[in-house]
Amino acid sequence: MIFEKYPFEKLNILLKDIKADTNYEASSLTIGEPQFQTPKIIQDELKNTTSFLNKYPKSAGEDYLKQSMISFNKKRFNIDLEMKEIIPVFGTREVLFNFPQFCLFDKPNPVMAFTNPFYQIYEGAATACKAKVIHLDLIKENNYLPIMTDEELKTCDLVILNFPNNPTSATISKNELEKWVKKSLEFDFVLINDECYSELYFNDEAKPVSLLEACVSVGNTSFKNSLVLNSISKRSSAPGLRSGFIAGDKDILEEYMKYRTYVGCASPIPLQKTAALAWSDEKHVEEFREIYKKNFEIAKEVLGIEAPLATFYIWLEVKDELKFTQELYRKKNIKVLPGSYLGRNGIGKDYVRIALVENNKKTKEVLTRLKDFMKEYK
Ligand SMILES: Cc1ncc(COP(=O)(O)O)c(C=O)c1O
Repeated sequence: MIFEKYPFEKLNILLKDIKADTNYEASSLTIGEPQFQTPKIIQDELKNTTSFLNKYPKSAGEDYLKQSMISFNKKRFNIDLEMKEIIPVFGTREVLFNFPQFCLFDKPNPVMAFTNPFYQIYEGAATACKAKVIHLDLIKENNYLPIMTDEELKTCDLVILNFPNNPTSATISKNELEKWVKKSLEFDFVLINDECYSELYFNDEAKPVSLLEACVSVGNTSFKNSLVLNSISKRSSAPGLRSGFIAGDKDILEEYMKYRTYVGCASPIPLQKTAALAWSDEKHVEEFREIYKKNFEIAKEVLGIEAPLATFYIWLEVKDELKFTQELYRKKNIKVLPGSYLGRNGIGKDYVRIALVENNKKTKEVLTRLKDFMKEYK
């Protein structure tokens, strides 16, 4: 079993012998981690709940946390979920790694498809399951939307989509998702949409849709074969809280819950209490959205780039992304992530991913520095 090196490790190797110009402040635009304090109401709740550390948390999650996630889905997507249709998880990363193992372990020749470029855990999971991988290439000519033939779909056991997308920032329409729901029923594969960026949107008239909404609109009201993942990490600037959920098909979730009992990733009760509050409050999320929106306005002003509908990433086309990354670091002390580290089969080549996760002032300064570099980069 050979796990690929993580992109950040590859980046460290790429930059290790390069001396950055320290006349500039070191700036890293590589990681998808909001650089803001977690809101005070969330921090205070955590401080106030430490007395619950003397209890073992339930693997299934506490009911109040489930309720707050159910309310979130109702308010945001107008989806009514039963208690059996949702499981709180310890951040979505662990699910993305272990769900494929649960889903594929009894398949003699497992086949898994996922969007390419991708969040690296999808590939790690495929490696752990010894699954054959089909890459759903996201290319500009197709507006970064996945295409798959029926011949390929017939062979799939599990498909993972990720919209809004990391790293391309693409969003998908309800109509497109409806097609995927129908295909998952026709060819009987499990369909996941990783919706971790669904709350970082900038236009109230064009909020990202959920796969669960697409299920309902095609009449799949039991969400058969469909599941979504969502996370508090980006929405609340609280990746350390480790709170997410998986929701959808209750028959799959019932079996998955049995499996999770053995995985042992129950979230401590103070974290569950705090997460329940964070999922219930929208005001702090609105404030973060304003910051990201302004960051994209700055990107437009400085680099002439149109804002995406969601996420905090710029998927920037450049010539020779590895050289670009090295030179930008050498000359301007800015780190970005080469797109080719996030994709396979040439996808991501000639792109870099830039995460706009800093405040507006810092973003303006660093993007201006980037622009100066781009003027002279050949
Ligand atoms: C597409 C995508 N999915 C899932 C995650 C994991 O988020 P968490 O484990 O914090 O819920 C990330 C984090 O960067 C991500 O970019």
